[in-house]
Amino acid sequence: MRKTIAILPGDGIGPEIIEQAIKVLKIVGTKFNHEFVFEYGLIGAIAIDKTGNPLPNETLKLCKSTDAILFGAIGDPKYDNDPSAKIRPEQGLLKLRKSLDLYVNVRPIRVFEKLKSKSPLKGEILEGVDFVVVRELIGGIYFGKRGRRKNGTVAYDTSTYSKAEIERVAKFAFELVLTRKKHITVVDKANVLETSRLWRETIQEQSKQYNNVTIEFMFVDNAAMQIIKKPSSFDVILTENMFGDILTDEASVITGSIGMLPSASIGAKTSLYEPIHGSYPKAKGLNTANPIGTILSAAMMLEYSFGLIKEAKSIENAVEKAINLGFGTKDIVSNNPLGTSELGTKIASLI
Ligand code: IPM
Ligand code: MN
Repeated sequence: MRKTIAILPGDGIGPEIIEQAIKVLKIVGTKFNHEFVFEYGLIGAIAIDKTGNPLPNETLKLCKSTDAILFGAIGDPKYDNDPSAKIRPEQGLLKLRKSLDLYVNVRPIRVFEKLKSKSPLKGEILEGVDFVVVRELIGGIYFGKRGRRKNGTVAYDTSTYSKAEIERVAKFAFELVLTRKKHITVVDKANVLETSRLWRETIQEQSKQYNNVTIEFMFVDNAAMQIIKKPSSFDVILTENMFGDILTDEASVITGSIGMLPSASIGAKTSLYEPIHGSYPKAKGLNTANPIGTILSAAMMLEYSFGLIKEAKSIENAVEKAINLGFGTKDIVSNNPLGTSELGTKIASLI
């Protein structure tokens, strides 16, 4: 199989971790006889520096012409510390998600046996943790009207959802849960928000088509608590954009390191794969960042975009093997941690 992949390293540790995923993909290509062609594009702070635009047209064009997109990270402290900046790196990613209609973001939460001691939670709470967060990605408060009033002294952001937007992401979650334990938790704030009430109404109606799925509605504040108290009680969590952003960072911590988690952003056509962590500017260029979230994102790409199930599995197995053999970056291994590049090479060699 021949596939072209847009590679968007982005900012901070992005380039270092992306390089490891490419190493792994090259080995998979050789071993399983596929040709992966990598085409690089600029996005984020580095794109602003070079072109003045966080998502140059060229990058968008590239992304639309390839079979899948592998993304590193975005963000730079220069902008975080300057709330008045009009052009911001994150706009690049948000515009890309919107332009490609990537309406669903899938974030699997999995705890590796060997890393249980790295989790801030007690061992018994980690027993049987295996859930997926399905996050709506291009609606809600992220994309609503925002602005200032009264000479800038009053600010507003608005959240809007249509029935159609809710239905399509819920459909994805229902189809996914049918392949799992058939338990969906819909997370919202229906005791306060009108958008959440529309979510409930829509999903209650839609759930009639899925008789063998159990469906539970949970307020987001309670969900934040249950993810820590009883994470094993979840199978698929379905939620809106902002709640999904926050809850997946929370959930990543229970796996021992935020550096471990992959994600897939799926739309009608080209999908995008990225680790859920940020650009970790403090570690930029230090060869210490954990590349596993990105490597596992490449595995998700093989499975979801190309249907290459056994190739994806070979990456997941190599990651697990490396971890079981005690290899890891310093966030997950205390004794003789490997550098980013060395861990990438190690995982690639285990395929
Ligand atoms: C994520 C990130 C992004 C988001 C930022 C970089 C815009 O935190 O993918 O979770 O909030 O969606
Ligand atoms: Mn986030």
